[in-house]
Amino acid sequence: MKILVTGGAGFVGSHVTKLLLKQGHIVTVVDNLSTGKKELIDKRATFIQADLLDQPSIEKILPGHDGVIHMASFIEVSESIRNPAEFAQNNILGGVKLLEAMKKTQVKKIIFSSSACVYGTPKKLPITEDDPQGVQENPYGITKVTTEQFCSLYHHLFNFDVAILRYFNPYGPGELHDPETHAIPNFVKAVLSKQPVPLFWKGEQVRDFIYIDDLAAAHIMPLSLSGLNIYNVGTETGMKVIDVVKEIFNLIGYAVPIDDKGERQGDVPKLVASSQKIKRELGWEAKVDLKEGLKKTIEFFKTLYPKP
Ligand SMILES: NC(=O)c1ccc[n+]([C@@H]2O[C@H](COP(=O)([O-])OP(=O)(O)OC[C@H]3O[C@@H](n4cnc5c(N)ncnc54)[C@H](O)[C@@H]3O)[C@@H](O)[C@H]2O)c1
Repeated sequence: MKILVTGGAGFVGSHVTKLLLKQGHIVTVVDNLSTGKKELIDKRATFIQADLLDQPSIEKILPGHDGVIHMASFIEVSESIRNPAEFAQNNILGGVKLLEAMKKTQVKKIIFSSSACVYGTPKKLPITEDDPQGVQENPYGITKVTTEQFCSLYHHLFNFDVAILRYFNPYGPGELHDPETHAIPNFVKAVLSKQPVPLFWKGEQVRDFIYIDDLAAAHIMPLSLSGLNIYNVGTETGMKVIDVVKEIFNLIGYAVPIDDKGERQGDVPKLVASSQKIKRELGWEAKVDLKEGLKKTIEFFKTLYPKP
């Protein structure tokens, strides 16, 4: 298939692009490089630097594609609290303009990167896709809920094939957000540079960490689906954040002090996915366990630090 990947210069998008190419698909990456890095884009993909808000440009690029994997977004939660209008414009309006461009050019298949944050504070674990969406604590979460709804609307009104993927906590090589707010890359970088590990809530929160190769694989299977489909993408295994820190100490071979950051507003205590639906309907399951994934992630970050 010929697939347009938005946000392909980002962490998740660059891995999805690689996997699509490996499986013989033709890939066009559209990214405005606002936070993404050109060097992360596989050279075999056609790269077009463009902004989703520039609908005429997207309409020129789209014809001939069989579908879109839409990952372009601003992602930094605290930044979304400081700049809600920017987030609404980029993520919501950018998404709607993309859908409009798709409608005009008759490219009616979209896979959208959503997030476990749409559930708010879950009432039960593991979370299933038919659990209610919860109150959002920040504008980023609202952009995910709203873009999900626009995608569903384009299914109902215009017969789009829509797959919504609700990621739990992705991690892995190539995660180079700046600033980085995600736990695992920050922990690994702190330990490798022998700095204290910044830790909120004393690491008591439970998260479902999903390795990037497994997450990327979940984007390929829905390309053959029709209709409206929503899937959690997680491992069904909850890990206390402090146990992840201990595993990183163990794998690197030494410990560093903890920098106790106290409590952080808006953090949900526990998030664990049920992935039964994606397993049952698409045969997808996470293959890389946390220890193996952390090893690969540590190897990647070691390449960024000069040897002593
Ligand atoms: N990384 C996570 O932990 C996580 C968790 C849940 C959901 N998600 C979602 O997955 C997707 C990818 O996340 P990521 O971690 O790879 O983020 P990222 O910041 O690494 O990548 C996002 C990419 O989108 C591009 N972009 C942003 N706005 C654009 C626009 N208007 N036009 C064109 N390009 C634009 C950026 O330049 C960047 O390359 C996002 O939609 C994010 O909300 C990520």
